[in-house]
Amino acid sequence: MTKATTRNFFFGGTIVFSAAFVLLTLQTHGTIAHRTHEEKLTAQVRRGGAVWARYNCENCHTLLGEGAYFAPDLTKIVEQRGAAYLAQFLDDPSRFYSEERDGRLMPTLGLSGEEIAEVVAFLGWVGQIDTNGWPPRPILVAGVAPRGMPGVSGVAESDRPESRGKALFDGAGACATCHSIESGVTLVGPALSGLVERSVERVQDPAYKGASKSPDDYLKESILAPSAFVTPGGRYATPEGTSLMPDTYSKTLKPEQVADLVAYLKTLR
Ligand code: HEC
Ligand code: HEC
Repeated sequence: MTKATTRNFFFGGTIVFSAAFVLLTLQTHGTIAHRTHEEKLTAQVRRGGAVWARYNCENCHTLLGEGAYFAPDLTKIVEQRGAAYLAQFLDDPSRFYSEERDGRLMPTLGLSGEEIAEVVAFLGWVGQIDTNGWPPRPILVAGVAPRGMPGVSGVAESDRPESRGKALFDGAGACATCHSIESGVTLVGPALSGLVERSVERVQDPAYKGASKSPDDYLKESILAPSAFVTPGGRYATPEGTSLMPDTYSKTLKPEQVADLVAYLKTLR
C-alpha cells in the first residue's frame, strides 16, 4: 500500500463513519419522543422520577438495567404486579415478604400516599418505553430472582390447551409472580392448587357475590374481573375492596388465551 492510498483510506473512512455517526444521532433524536411516549411524561410522572431519586431506590434496584443489582429489576413491574398491589406493597413491604421466608426485606421507606402514586406513575411510564426489545431476557439479580419471573420458563411443551395455558401462566401472563401452585404457599395471591374443587364450592356458597353460575365461569371471572369477588382468607384487596390482582387481563389476553389458562388451572390438584 502506498502512502497515498493509506491517506485516502484514512480520510475516506473518517468521512464515511462520521457521516454514519451524525445520521444515526439525528435518527435517534428524531425518534426518541415517540419511543419514550414523551406525551405521557406528565407532571406526576416527573415528580415520581424525583421520588425515585430522593429515596435512592436505584441503590438497590435497576430500571432498564441501570442501578444496583441488590433487588429485582423494576422495568416492567407495573405490568406484572398492577398499580393496586404496588401501592399496598410500597406502603409496607413487610406485609408481603418475610425476612425468615425470603431472606431479605425491602425497608419500609415511609413514602406518603402521594409519593407512592407518583413513583408508581413513574414506573408505569418507564415500563412503556420502547427499548427495541432490550433486555432480551428478564434481568435476574443473583440470589434475589423475583418469584416466578416471567420469561424464565414459558415455552409450551405441546399444543394442548393446558400446556399453552401453563406456558402463559409461567411466562408472558406473569401469573406465577403472584401465585404458587403448591398448596399452602401464599405469595401476593392465594395458592391455586385444588382450584377445581374450590370453584365448585364457591359458586354454591351464599357468601359468594360474583356473577358466575358455573365453576368454569368463576375461573374466567377471577382472571378478567378480579374485584367481582375477592377471595377470602388473606390480605388480597385494598381497604376499599379493590383486588390486588391486576384488572388489565381483559384487555391484554385474547379469549383463546383465557380459555387456555382455565384449562391449565383445572389441572391443578
Ligand atoms: C435497601 C434496598 C432497597 C431500597 C432502597 C429500595 N428497595 Fe425496593 N426492594 C428491595 C428488595 C430486597 C426487594 C425484594 C422484595 C423483598 O424481599 O422485600 C424489593 C422489592 C421492590 C418491589 C417489588 C415488589 C414485588 O412484590 O415484586 C418494588 C415495586 C420496589 N421494591 C420498589 C421500590 C421503590 C419505588 C423504591 C424507592 C422509593 C425502593 N424499592 C427502594 C430493596 C430495596
Ligand atoms: C399482582 C399479583 C397477581 C397477579 C399477577 C395475578 N394474580 Fe390472580 N390473584 C391475586 C390476588 C391478590 C388474588 C385474590 C383476590 C381476588 O380474588 O381477586 C387473586 C385471585 C386469583 C384467582 C381466584 C383464586 C381463588 O381461590 O378463588 C384466580 C383463579 C387467579 N387469581 C388466577 C390468576 C391468573 C390465571 C393470573 C395470570 C393471568 C393471575 N391470577 C395473576 C394476585 C395476582
